[in-house]
Amino acid sequence: MHEREPIGVIGTGYVGLVTAAGFAELGNEVFCVDIDADKIRGLERGELPIYEPGLAELVERNRERMHFSTDLQPALDQARLLFVAVGTPPTYSGDADLSAVDAVVDAMPPSDRHALVMKSTVPSGTGASIKRIFAERGKGGFSYVSCPEFLKEGSAVADFLHPDRVVVGDDGDWAGDAVVALYAPLDAPLVRTDVKSAEMIKLAANAALMTRISFINEIANVCEATGADVVKVAEGIGHDRRIGKSFLRAGVGFGGSCFPKDSLALKQLAANSGYHFQVLNAVIEVNELQKRRVIGKLADRLGSLRGKRIALLGLAFKPHTDDTREAPAFVLAGRLLSEGAGVVAWDPVARIDGLAGVEQVATVEAATRGADAVVLVTEWPELADVDWPAIAAAMRRPVIVDGRNMLDPDSMRAAGFQYDAIGRAASNGPR
Ligand SMILES: NC(=O)c1ccc[n+]([C@@H]2O[C@H](COP(=O)([O-])OP(=O)(O)OC[C@H]3O[C@@H](n4cnc5c(N)ncnc54)[C@H](O)[C@@H]3O)[C@@H](O)[C@H]2O)c1
Repeated sequence: MHEREPIGVIGTGYVGLVTAAGFAELGNEVFCVDIDADKIRGLERGELPIYEPGLAELVERNRERMHFSTDLQPALDQARLLFVAVGTPPTYSGDADLSAVDAVVDAMPPSDRHALVMKSTVPSGTGASIKRIFAERGKGGFSYVSCPEFLKEGSAVADFLHPDRVVVGDDGDWAGDAVVALYAPLDAPLVRTDVKSAEMIKLAANAALMTRISFINEIANVCEATGADVVKVAEGIGHDRRIGKSFLRAGVGFGGSCFPKDSLALKQLAANSGYHFQVLNAVIEVNELQKRRVIGKLADRLGSLRGKRIALLGLAFKPHTDDTREAPAFVLAGRLLSEGAGVVAWDPVARIDGLAGVEQVATVEAATRGADAVVLVTEWPELADVDWPAIAAAMRRPVIVDGRNMLDPDSMRAAGFQYDAIGRAASNGPR
């Protein structure tokens, strides 16, 4: 193996930690930095701050190559390439909050031998303004590379090791070449371009995926009105190679730490540039309404929700993660509480912290016992193995809304449930 160059990774969240462990696996010494001292102390003890399949093993296997600190200096001393993986949450205006990125930029010393490699998702144009700031502050020797991240929570380790593509946006100097060399062992298709285009690739990729979700959710809603079954419709259109099968699962809407904020950021980026992005506006609005449709389905079955006990199965925004940022379960819980319902929640790893009034219990059985209805919110595989006839028998009313079309309608009805799903009017059965 060629000698691998040491790198720095600033921010040790989902993206930073996976990137750090992934490069350590490829043989790089990795110097991780985070302002969260508790997180760094935990990582030094081998404790992971997040749940991500395979990550604990990867970190453990590469412990001697991974170094953790709250101080930037070791990374600056040892590495030329400083990957930035700090959060970029939305502001009240919907623009990306770049204060953590700004803090990193401010902390950089003048240097002719370092480069910032931006993994955080930032609006197109951020790299240009960072380079301007560097130039104004006598740090014009600092190089800049945009290297957007496409990993998915729940399969982040595999996504790092087997990416669909690597995108490198740079000014054609040493830093872009160095990042390309770093990723070379992964043997992934490379898209090398300018910084602004690389930044836009990330935003456009997310927007394309969100558009497919809102599209199939709207098809599902029309299926409900016309008596068709969206699962069959999605299968039928997915076989078309021009369309493809992925991201055609109707459900209770998208959430997570990326899609909601990145759609808002792209919408605002367009608006700030004088363009009204009509499709994206519709995608966002459809998603907001989709999260609320379950309430109508419950009311159809139960009448007033006041005083009813509703069990939510799944809190994470998708399976195999503990991330609940912008999770549909939280919107649902909030709406149910405001309707006067009691809410009990179950999730194998995610916690309901921050949502007062919701009781979290350890098992599906405890969540559903005595409930008036259950809503399957996150398609955790564990839910396929539940003893549904026993669950139905122990509920006050055996009503289920399968918010992910995960369960088999006939089996659920045979188990004694009044079964409802998303866009499956044809299989809903008599009310
Ligand atoms: N989570 C994903 O699935 C995903 C996928 C692709 C891209 N992204 C993008 O990657 C970025 C990071 O996302 P995340 O989910 O890993 O965030 P995260 O909140 O899990 O982690 C961010 C980390 O940065 C640290 N931090 C903040 N300011 C810092 C500073 N000045 N110096 C050092 N550390 C600092 C925080 O303490 C935290 O540990 C975001 O821009 C996000 O949009 C995320």
